[in-house]
Amino acid sequence: MAVALIFISIFVLFLVSILFKFATAEGDFTLISKRHVKREEIEDKVIWITGASRGIGEVLAKQLANLGAKLILSARNEAELERVKKQLTGKHAPHGVKILPLDLASGEDSLKESVLKAESFFPDTGVHMIFHNAAFERPKTSALEVSEEGLKATFDVNVFGTISLTRMLAPYMLKRGKGHFVVMSSAAGKTPAPGQAMYSASKHALNGYFHTLRSELFQKGIRVTVVCPGPIGTTTNLGASTSENRGVSEKRVTSERCAELTIIAASHGLKEAWISNQPVLAVMYLVQFMPTTGFWLMDKVGGRRVEAAAQKGNTYSLGLLFGKKKSS
Ligand SMILES: NC(=O)c1ccc[n+]([C@@H]2O[C@H](COP(=O)([O-])OP(=O)(O)OC[C@H]3O[C@@H](n4cnc5c(N)ncnc54)[C@H](OP(=O)(O)O)[C@@H]3O)[C@@H](O)[C@H]2O)c1
Repeated sequence: MAVALIFISIFVLFLVSILFKFATAEGDFTLISKRHVKREEIEDKVIWITGASRGIGEVLAKQLANLGAKLILSARNEAELERVKKQLTGKHAPHGVKILPLDLASGEDSLKESVLKAESFFPDTGVHMIFHNAAFERPKTSALEVSEEGLKATFDVNVFGTISLTRMLAPYMLKRGKGHFVVMSSAAGKTPAPGQAMYSASKHALNGYFHTLRSELFQKGIRVTVVCPGPIGTTTNLGASTSENRGVSEKRVTSERCAELTIIAASHGLKEAWISNQPVLAVMYLVQFMPTTGFWLMDKVGGRRVEAAAQKGNTYSLGLLFGKKKSS
């Protein structure tokens, strides 16, 4: 009897510790179990980052430079890229940091030119890894408010531009027998995202393309890591007032931690990684492993979330489940 009680107590303690870990985790279990960056996968590698002029991309540039990577920084705003470059420190900064302004919506010919330039910056090695991080702004629109113009603008950057750049760069990587695409998707690419239909559609499209690309090219040395962050606090969405500014009442993972976990995921070659606080992380698990329950939950909160977004309230509040609209 005493032995059984000891076993039950140990089991309960084990369950409680797992629950605590889950409640406080900032990423999925596989990602969190990795703990540290494999530096040897980053140091001296040529890494191209799109969307490096601000937000998560800027923080990725700082952390990758500190880990000893050679960098190519891209976005449309050249002056901002120069500002980011000036702040970088590390084994190859600033001489091993190149600026490559580009517009992902500029079409295939112009992106082909960008890939040629990127490859020529470090002719001995070419590009080892690209972080597809750039994205079009995330307008809050319900599924029926989506306009053709908005859809086109979102897909031109998030999907068509990103896929074109990949199609142009992949042949160089295939010739070398190795290359790695790290794709900044979103929790909105894994679950329904009421109030963000266009953005969600574009990120689901990215997930589909890149998981398929990996399945086709893995045996030829091509790696793909799809990263799906939930709400992240960046200078853009926590600082200046933007159409998306929800204030600090939403518990967001910091952009520093998001970048760190993204680099951990990439350096360990994870195929997919989720980065988020609760309750978004729990919803991702539900939709992935218990879709009937996950979709039931999203159907329950969806209408209220669209209203909360319109009123600039907290779109991640548990109160949405019970009909309370918490404003920030
Ligand atoms: N922040 C979040 O809460 C969150 C959550 C989940 C996923 N994500 C994903 O994480 C990534 C980074 O997010 P973020 O919040 O850091 O974004 P952000 O602050 O809005 O920055 C977007 C970046 O993309 C660049 N960009 C925009 N349009 C471009 C174009 N046409 N061509 C080339 N570059 C372009 C921007 O630079 P220019 O304006 O200079 O071109 C900027 O550097 C995105 O893929 C986003 O979807 C973010």
